[in-house]
Amino acid sequence: MRTFRMFILSLFIFNLLLVIPGTARTLTDGQIENKVNELLGKMTLKEKIGQMVQYSYSGSHGSKMQEEAIRQGLVGSFLNGESIADINRLQKIAVEETRLGIPLIFGRDVIHGFRTVLPIPLGQAASWNPHLIEAGNAIAAREARANGVHWTFAPMLDICRDPRWGRIAEGLGEDPYLASQLGAAMTRGFQGNDYSAPDRLAACAKHYVAYGAAEGGRDYNTTAVSERQLREIYLPPFRAAVNAGVATIMSAFNEIDGIPASGNQFTLRTVLRDEWQFKGFVVSDWSSMTEMLNHGFCVDEKDVALKSLTAGVDMEMVSEAYIHHLENLVNEKQIASELIDESVRNILRIKFKAGLFDNPYTPEGGEKVLLTPANQNVAREIARQSLVLLKNEKHLLPLAKNLKRIAVIGPLANAPHDQLGCWVLDGHQEYTITPLKALQDYFGKETEILFAEGLKTSRTTRTDGFDQAFKYASLADAVLLFMGEEAILSGEAHSRAFLELPGAQEKLIEEIAKLNKPTVMIILAGRPLTFHQVAEKVGAIIYAWHPGTMGGPAIVDVLFGDYAPSGKLPVSFPKTVGQIPVYYAHKNTGRPPSPNQKGIPMGTPLDPVAFVSNYLDVDVMPEYPFGYGLSYVNFEYSNLKLSTDKLKMGETLEISVQVKNSGKMAADEIVQLYIRDLVASITRPVKELKGFKRITLKPGERQVVNFKLQTDDLAFYNQQMKMMAEPGKFHLWAGKSAVDGLQAEFWIVE
Ligand code: GLC
Repeated sequence: MRTFRMFILSLFIFNLLLVIPGTARTLTDGQIENKVNELLGKMTLKEKIGQMVQYSYSGSHGSKMQEEAIRQGLVGSFLNGESIADINRLQKIAVEETRLGIPLIFGRDVIHGFRTVLPIPLGQAASWNPHLIEAGNAIAAREARANGVHWTFAPMLDICRDPRWGRIAEGLGEDPYLASQLGAAMTRGFQGNDYSAPDRLAACAKHYVAYGAAEGGRDYNTTAVSERQLREIYLPPFRAAVNAGVATIMSAFNEIDGIPASGNQFTLRTVLRDEWQFKGFVVSDWSSMTEMLNHGFCVDEKDVALKSLTAGVDMEMVSEAYIHHLENLVNEKQIASELIDESVRNILRIKFKAGLFDNPYTPEGGEKVLLTPANQNVAREIARQSLVLLKNEKHLLPLAKNLKRIAVIGPLANAPHDQLGCWVLDGHQEYTITPLKALQDYFGKETEILFAEGLKTSRTTRTDGFDQAFKYASLADAVLLFMGEEAILSGEAHSRAFLELPGAQEKLIEEIAKLNKPTVMIILAGRPLTFHQVAEKVGAIIYAWHPGTMGGPAIVDVLFGDYAPSGKLPVSFPKTVGQIPVYYAHKNTGRPPSPNQKGIPMGTPLDPVAFVSNYLDVDVMPEYPFGYGLSYVNFEYSNLKLSTDKLKMGETLEISVQVKNSGKMAADEIVQLYIRDLVASITRPVKELKGFKRITLKPGERQVVNFKLQTDDLAFYNQQMKMMAEPGKFHLWAGKSAVDGLQAEFWIVE
């Protein structure tokens, strides 16, 4: 296993050395500022406003209006150019037919891969592996830049604790610490140290901010979050991306406590510019500016332009408030021209940093970097590490490699389009290796693969395929059930009010379970689902998310023990949709629930079973907790030690814990570090993730894992909204999930 990973790493490094020769950025930041100001000084007001306009590309013949607008210097950017030729054609108009020759910047949703499709970001997050995520998104950047894209609208950093929300698929889960680490890694993957390089992209942290807190899990819905929740939960991943040098930020659709994100001076200026000193540019989401009319926040399109620029949106995606009204607003002195200059500086700065003035055109031949064996191997490794083993009764997995007959059943066993997941603009399903295909490739003639979908699609309720499935299962030594969601059931505008396996999937599972065969369920989905009843009817469960182009081989690697699963949940799985929101870093409340209590005896007298924060019909614990994931080996934790139990303010606490692999195969473990601040001037969550480390242990091998915590790591926003740590007692855990670890305690002392 280690050799395979060394092979991947070497392939990846080799591939890096092959990087397309091209000029890396030669200008220093200071030189760029001089060039920006020199160019700005030559621009007319119309040309400045033109830089703030982004159109969506209108197809291979382009539109005469768009071309004429470019020629007049009235467009700064396009999204969704379709080919190198088209992009170069429009770029040539901008560079060679306009007065100042300012290049366009072409953006695109390269969310989880380009042609080599990676697991959806929620699946990548389950790997808890920043290095691998960086490597995977560097491949996405190489493939996309070589094919005309300059700028990706990723990483998506919306914290979400409501799996009804379809866009949970695009994010990095429920926890700000994990999402910050992984979002910064994605940013580095896209941008490298210099995104003018011919294999890098300018990145875009989105959707700023708190979009994932939509009421009811319904997309675009209201978010009512306090400033403290903003600062402690929703802003940190964006701060991490800004600290990692992210080029741009995208303002979101939602309102934040009554003020739409695209007209919000507090988030866009006070936090982003004044506190964080962000120097990139802000692009609105698709017509999120003019949607402030629907929000009832702007009276007309001119008001939209006024409020958006005052708040700090630099570039308008698709809608046309800026191009229609900014010039008049300046001439009527309703807005200072300095604000326009500032926005244009931000845009030009990124265009220089992206190397567009030096290299505005994309050379032909971009297809040669697509889907290389090295790219596919990295995608396979990410997919392997994203798989989460949720159940493995009596060590059913890994399966023996000498089975005579394997039944492969379910609507996601051979679904090349759906396996790729949401937001796939440039992935082609013909390159997807499905689990069925991977099994057929893996086994020779001595093992018979019996395939029956059982259900045509994940949503169908037609059961006419059951007989064939039942027949094949009855003939097999083991049954593999591939269940879950079609790709279209998650992603933008695709929220669900119920989280069961769609269609007649549960019926099919129950039918097959009657055979009492060794049965493994593999779920491919874009969000946590609820499957409590059927979970009891199978021997093992692997959660595969939508695992991308190489999902099939990755799943087979785990099923047959060529890789021991190491994935950990980046989001809590509810038992039922009625529990939502359910997440690990919750508050204790004044009447903390008894974790496993549910129900109330018949005839209970008036005095209650317990006046605590429980439900009567389900307990409050998730089906599967944050950080949870089984392995094929048992990891034994021991010897949790702290350097002190009295930590002075400003000092560093050193933590060590021993981990042993008591199993029979090498495997990875993700050791997690949590704390709890028991008493503070603001109530604190019952647990907070503060560190994690991946280790690889051979059978019988022990390793001491070390962490360090500064008192700053224990700080929170106090009643004066100042980030401070306070003296007092803390609990600390080191373990394998948010609910399973060795515990210690320490104090911060004055
Ligand atoms: C969409 C999405 C955003 C995407 C943009 C461009 O509406 O909200 O995530 O990047 O428009 O496609």
